[in-house]
Amino acid sequence: MDNLNKFFRGKKVFITGHTGFKGSWLTSVLIKLGAKVCGYSKIDEKKDQYIKLCYSQKAKNIYGDILNYKKLENSLKKFKPDIIFHLAAQALVSKSYSDPYNTFQTNTVGTLNILNISRNLKNLKCLVIITSDKCYRNIEIKRGYKENDILGGDDPYSASKAAAEIIFNAYNKSFYNQRKKLGIATTRAGNVIGGGDWSKDRIIPDCIKSINKKKKLTIRNPNSTRPWQHVLEPVFGYLILAMKLYKKPEKFTGSWNFGPLSNETMSVKNVVDLLFINLSLEKKILIKKGVFKEANLLKLNSKKSLKKLKWKNFWNMRKSIQETAKWYKGYLVKSDIKKITNYQIDEYLKLYD
Ligand SMILES: NC(=O)c1ccc[n+]([C@@H]2O[C@H](COP(=O)([O-])OP(=O)(O)OC[C@H]3O[C@@H](n4cnc5c(N)ncnc54)[C@H](O)[C@@H]3O)[C@@H](O)[C@H]2O)c1
Repeated sequence: MDNLNKFFRGKKVFITGHTGFKGSWLTSVLIKLGAKVCGYSKIDEKKDQYIKLCYSQKAKNIYGDILNYKKLENSLKKFKPDIIFHLAAQALVSKSYSDPYNTFQTNTVGTLNILNISRNLKNLKCLVIITSDKCYRNIEIKRGYKENDILGGDDPYSASKAAAEIIFNAYNKSFYNQRKKLGIATTRAGNVIGGGDWSKDRIIPDCIKSINKKKKLTIRNPNSTRPWQHVLEPVFGYLILAMKLYKKPEKFTGSWNFGPLSNETMSVKNVVDLLFINLSLEKKILIKKGVFKEANLLKLNSKKSLKKLKWKNFWNMRKSIQETAKWYKGYLVKSDIKKITNYQIDEYLKLYD
């Protein structure tokens, strides 16, 4: 861990979407590593959740829309980041059906804005763009998608993430290859779980909400399998990638998968069963047919990241569910959730020692 500690201490890191589920954990880890963090997110329900989870006063927090080009540009020019992580997005498949226009706009034009502004940021050494495992054309193959597989997306969210990847590729090939000291990358991770996610139509938040409201839990696709992983797994992937990109931009520029262990699969139903066992609670489930189309099988192949970045999968699916349950157990009994988050980060950091 010395490496990450040494590397991020004092670095200026700009994070878009820092108030979101992944953004809050990424911000918390970077604060712990001693980075100077500036976050940029729009004002929405995520802000309060972020403030509850993260020692947010230790970061500079800017509230603005990623589509507001001038505000984003001014914020970046003023902060002068060494590193940017771009996470801001409309991140839900379900919402992409009810609001496709906003999904496409936020996820494509948002990424375009970051890429275009970053071209002229003198201090910038690396830019990491978070897209999704859903950017691949999903033909439900068992081997898992590799970074050079064909992009696709049958729903607005997945297509918007594939489109962001195409924009990235064009900017990389057309403009960034002339700035040899700047590394840029996209990352594709799986279905992330962990404390502090309250998003609609995601299975863990749905479970906790059903417990809170003492209502039956509705599951739409009980047999679907997803690349479940704890949020800290891809977050550490992003950090390691940023460090390598910073040091050797030409070698590490490109796209990277950060999925769970390749031999692991778990259905939605199994995840729910395990979560309730770990929470020591009885569950009441209602199975309903899904209202929107989602793929049944989605797998990532992360061999490139494991081999070339020396990224590791430390927490398997069972452990990830256990840690997630611990966090929400603390939340349900009104413990200090900032402390739980930080404790889990400390435990995870030890694994990199
Ligand atoms: N959570 C997952 O399982 C998962 C899986 C694969 C990829 N991703 C990707 O990871 C990233 C983070 O996901 P998350 O789960 O933390 O999402 P989230 O919905 O919890 O957070 C989204 C963040 O983006 C911000 N945002 C949304 N629209 C914005 C706009 N117009 N301007 C400025 N900020 C805006 C929100 O305020 C919030 O900070 C996203 O790009 C998402 O597509 C997530």
